[in-house]
Amino acid sequence: MKIKLHPTRIDLPKAARRKVIDLLNQNLADVLDLGLQAKQAHWNVKGPQFIALHELFDKLAEELEEFSDDIAERAVALGGVALGTSQVIAKQSRLNAYPTSLAAGHAHIEAMANALAQFGKSIRAAIDGATSLGDADTADLFTGVSRGTDKLLWLVEAHLQVKE
Ligand SMILES: [Fe+2]
Repeated sequence: MKIKLHPTRIDLPKAARRKVIDLLNQNLADVLDLGLQAKQAHWNVKGPQFIALHELFDKLAEELEEFSDDIAERAVALGGVALGTSQVIAKQSRLNAYPTSLAAGHAHIEAMANALAQFGKSIRAAIDGATSLGDADTADLFTGVSRGTDKLLWLVEAHLQVKE
């Protein structure tokens, strides 16, 4: 669907802006889905590490919400429309569906680590995408999100790296 761009004084060429906005919206759908997955884990985790994991998953959701806000607002700043409705997320997200059957802490940790890694891979690719479209600012935004996602993945994977 070709959405009409809003006029802006930003000097990036229109054709490039259109492609960058599409790239932003694709990653917006992914990160919104990921944030909901973190909430799903936050609400449903059980087990002896309950409180630590319940809080960790909420922290993930909060940080992911900040990423989604930055990505959405960049799309609008470039003259686009941020596409963040549940219908668009469900249709566009490239993440695997989060399993609704999980309860045990280790199962949620594994699922969140997989989801963060999947998003981390595509956001890293988006850095190159924005660079090749001549938009260093969006590339920088994606780089920050990528670095932040790697950090969140560390917080989750640390639970898997040593057997007790
Ligand atoms: Fe809560």
